[in-house]
Amino acid sequence: MLGNFVYHNPTKLYFGDKSLDNLNDELKNYGKNIMLIYGGGSIKNNGIYDEVIKILKDNGKNIFEDSGVMSNPTLEKLNEGRKIAKENNIDFILAVGGGSVCDYSKCVSAFAHSDGNIWKRYFENREVVANKTIPLGCVLTMVGTGSEMNAGAVITNSDLKLKLGYGFGIDVFPKFSILNPKFTFSLPKYQMVAGIYDIMSHIFEQYFSDFDDNTSDYIMEGMLRSIIHSSKIAVKNPTDYEARSNIMWTATWALNTFVAKGKTTDWMVHMIGHSISAYTGATHGMTLAAVSIPYYKKMLPYAVEKFKKYAINVWDVNPVGKTDEEIAKEGLVEMEKFMREIGLVMNIKDLGVTEDIVDKMADVFAIRQGGYKVLTKEEIAEIYRESMTL
Ligand code: NZQ
Ligand code: ZN
Repeated sequence: MLGNFVYHNPTKLYFGDKSLDNLNDELKNYGKNIMLIYGGGSIKNNGIYDEVIKILKDNGKNIFEDSGVMSNPTLEKLNEGRKIAKENNIDFILAVGGGSVCDYSKCVSAFAHSDGNIWKRYFENREVVANKTIPLGCVLTMVGTGSEMNAGAVITNSDLKLKLGYGFGIDVFPKFSILNPKFTFSLPKYQMVAGIYDIMSHIFEQYFSDFDDNTSDYIMEGMLRSIIHSSKIAVKNPTDYEARSNIMWTATWALNTFVAKGKTTDWMVHMIGHSISAYTGATHGMTLAAVSIPYYKKMLPYAVEKFKKYAINVWDVNPVGKTDEEIAKEGLVEMEKFMREIGLVMNIKDLGVTEDIVDKMADVFAIRQGGYKVLTKEEIAEIYRESMTL
């Protein structure tokens, strides 16, 4: 394990098909004014909204709703939410939805009592939040981001065509998250598989970095095997509780800081993917899927040993009679086969990308140093162009 580190995750998890019952007890810890944040309406169609409202009312809370949080939430919408929270003296935020709702809620929590231009202060200048924050909890309905147990949030500035993340301090982690795998049954297949690949990509971003022998890598190989196994089942039968519950639990642990400890990490696929969403509004997990094979093909020559380990330990590639490079490459072939099998988008044209925006997208906000090769902007453009041939 590299370096010196602290592991402290304050989010309490309630897991299982009865987990929403725990909301009753949790609400007793907070004041009367609750801001209920949700997305475009899926929670009204699947009944989760009614269940949550009943619990809030039974507990005598004043409910202030902020709905319509879109996928890839925008700065403009966030400014509306900040206003609602400040004007109504909100005591507690309840986020009911996926990563977008959860991320947005964290930003309302942190920025409701911040003044000035929050985009400049926090997303561009990386100021640390020093004002009062509002406690929040999450009822998760879409699996993938890990937002339910971390302090990250990603916001899109549509005017600047930038999608940037921010990492908050310990008080903006959700106080609790409620994870009921049955709440994910109503997800359209496109969203389910996008979320599955988001989980895998979070693992890859932390796995494909450096060469040390690290416990986290062994844990991640196990998580990948579980996700691959469960995804194949969930794609055929979306209401398979065992598969959906395994996917949900893995998602949380893939990005709650646990497997990043004592390791270097990459995050370049996310940078390349965020740029696509900033230009086209594409679904997060699909942007990652569509650039991953070209990206990892570019990395492979610089890390044959690691890609060989991945091929054998994750994809069961038989190494007998093959060179290290052949084994490593076969791992990526198996990965691509699996991605196509579960229905991921492999070509960025299917996400609305056209040739004329490729060079602009390649001007990503940050080029990360943690991968096996630090990319140039030209190489990022090559990755986009290769995806357009897949
Ligand atoms: O808006 P509604 O109507 O609720 O519909 C949503 C949305 O259209 C729908 N949905 C959610 N739960 C459902 C459901 N539909 C039917 N049944 C359900 N149970 O699914 C769609 C996608 O939801 P969204 O929250 O946008 O997806 P996701 O969870 O993938 O979140 C994506 C956002 O999270 C950020 C992404 O960049 C993106 O902005 N990320 C956050 C991270 C973090 N906080 O650590 C890390 C990630 O890498 C990621 O960047
Ligand atoms: Zn992600």
